[in-house]
Amino acid sequence: MKSICVIGSLNVDMVAAVERFPQPGETLTADGYSVFFGGKGGNQAVALGKLGAKVKMVGKVGEDIHGNDYIRHLRMNGVDVSGISTEKGAVTGTAMIWVDRQGENQIVVSPGANGCMQPSDIDAMWEELVESDLFLFQLEIPIGTVAYAVKRLKQAGKTIVLDPAPASQLPEAIFRYIDYMTPNETEVRYYAGKQDRYVYQLKEAAGILIRRGVGTVIAKAGENGAYLIRDTELSHIDAYPTQAIDTTGAGDSFNAGFAYALASGLEVNEAVRIGNAVGALSVRQVGAQSAMPTREELDRFLETSQRRIKL
Ligand code: RIB
Ligand code: NA
Repeated sequence: MKSICVIGSLNVDMVAAVERFPQPGETLTADGYSVFFGGKGGNQAVALGKLGAKVKMVGKVGEDIHGNDYIRHLRMNGVDVSGISTEKGAVTGTAMIWVDRQGENQIVVSPGANGCMQPSDIDAMWEELVESDLFLFQLEIPIGTVAYAVKRLKQAGKTIVLDPAPASQLPEAIFRYIDYMTPNETEVRYYAGKQDRYVYQLKEAAGILIRRGVGTVIAKAGENGAYLIRDTELSHIDAYPTQAIDTTGAGDSFNAGFAYALASGLEVNEAVRIGNAVGALSVRQVGAQSAMPTREELDRFLETSQRRIKL
């Protein structure tokens, strides 16, 4: 089993359940409110830890109680926390989230300590970093730091998975260092610079990313599963039926399942299936991490679904 390192964000998610999203200037009364651990980086690390992967988290928390709590929480979920530091004078990243009755969400993120991750932090822990084989990135820490780390790690022979969310301007030079890019359908078109969906189909948009140097594009499509685009080939991989209560973190769960399967030696299309399964399980409860499966739960789910895979 290859070892995995997640370099990214740690947020505290403040989640209000709402009947519907508010209009500008409108005040709504929430159905309920909860606080969860979240952030795309932390979500991926916890999903991997729950599955039993050998996983390390690299990131920053603030000098507040949330920071220490989050580190303890990661440790309890089997994540190596030696790459997490506390940023003096900063607050832990925060995400303000509404979830409506369809399980859809709207999110505003305040980066806090996540915004303090510098290329020099990557250099400072280089020796420990290169012990891992597979690296997961998202875009909730400074893009310059992501670009720097992706390039250096790829040049050191590592495998790079980038979930380019939230959609942000990326330097052109980053694409050639990415082995697997896992945008959602909207993000594929955003990065291809082709947002007119009627003119540019998914395959063409992903093709633009591949021509810019990305190895493989995996377009996450929620309840429609995922599309795997390599060279000029596009294949569709079905989603698993599920009941969506809260889709927050479903994409992160997908990435974790995908990476876990790759690290276990599965082929890419099988790894996408595992990503779909972990994503499907994760949406069944409120909170990004609440319903992420253990390996045992994943096995049981795969066994009872019609689409079995030996993992
Ligand atoms: O991908 C889901 C995550 O995005 C949430 O946990 C929230 O923290 C936001 O960063
Ligand atoms: Na969830």
